[in-house]
Amino acid sequence: MISKEDILKGLETEVFAKKVFTFDTIDSTNDCAKVLATNNQPAGSLIISEYQTKGHGRFKRQWLSEPGKNLLFSLILKPDLDERYHHLLTFFIANCIADVIETLYKIKVMAKWPNDLLINERKFCGILLETVKKDDIFAIICGVGINVNQTVFHENLINVTSLKREIHNEVDRLLLLKSILKKLDSNYKHFIENPKHEIELWKERDILKGKSVHVFFNQNNYFGHVIDIDSDGYLVLRTDGKKRLKFYSGDVSLKSKE
Ligand code: BTN
Repeated sequence: MISKEDILKGLETEVFAKKVFTFDTIDSTNDCAKVLATNNQPAGSLIISEYQTKGHGRFKRQWLSEPGKNLLFSLILKPDLDERYHHLLTFFIANCIADVIETLYKIKVMAKWPNDLLINERKFCGILLETVKKDDIFAIICGVGINVNQTVFHENLINVTSLKREIHNEVDRLLLLKSILKKLDSNYKHFIENPKHEIELWKERDILKGKSVHVFFNQNNYFGHVIDIDSDGYLVLRTDGKKRLKFYSGDVSLKSKE
């Protein structure tokens, strides 16, 4: 099990993981982070577990992960940032994780709007932002699930992978976690000062541009070509009926993968 002492040893961050809560099993690190945030735990608090009984992703989907194999964590953040930029935290976190993984394992990481990281067109990382408000407390909970050393996945999970599957080596989870925390910490100030820059960085990894996709949003299906990610971080689609649509959220699948 990754211990609090191991995480904190030599970490020397300013904001991230200033407080650490470790669990063997928990319902969901995001749900726990919400409770801790409403109990005034500080920005930067890290909640990490070896296993989740109710891990969840976007659209209330389950996030399944074998015990002790992967990284499942949440961060409590209270960024000094206009509300209209809050969703860009996903891009910021994705960019940092992708950079760290490319540096450590010399492998190309791509991004799939709005919150997935992929290697060889398969998802290995998902990010889930949730907010909590209580009285004068407001916090953004950033949940991260990274498939690290798991090699067998539930049969319903298609196009999923892990770092071990891609690099054919066992990965040191502690080193990866600490490298991510350090990267987040050193880039955070720049993100707060210039949040939109994250969109530009993210676009360099965008796997959807120019592709034929299916978008599921608000109980509706849309088909078309991805034109770009716009300056707000929204997905711009030209539908098959030649309409230009913008999505601030949605579930996107590549048509060729269906
Ligand atoms: C997604 O791909 O839809 C986002 C997945 C986010 C999963 C992580 S695992 C740690 C944290 N706790 C949760 O319950 N969810 C996030």
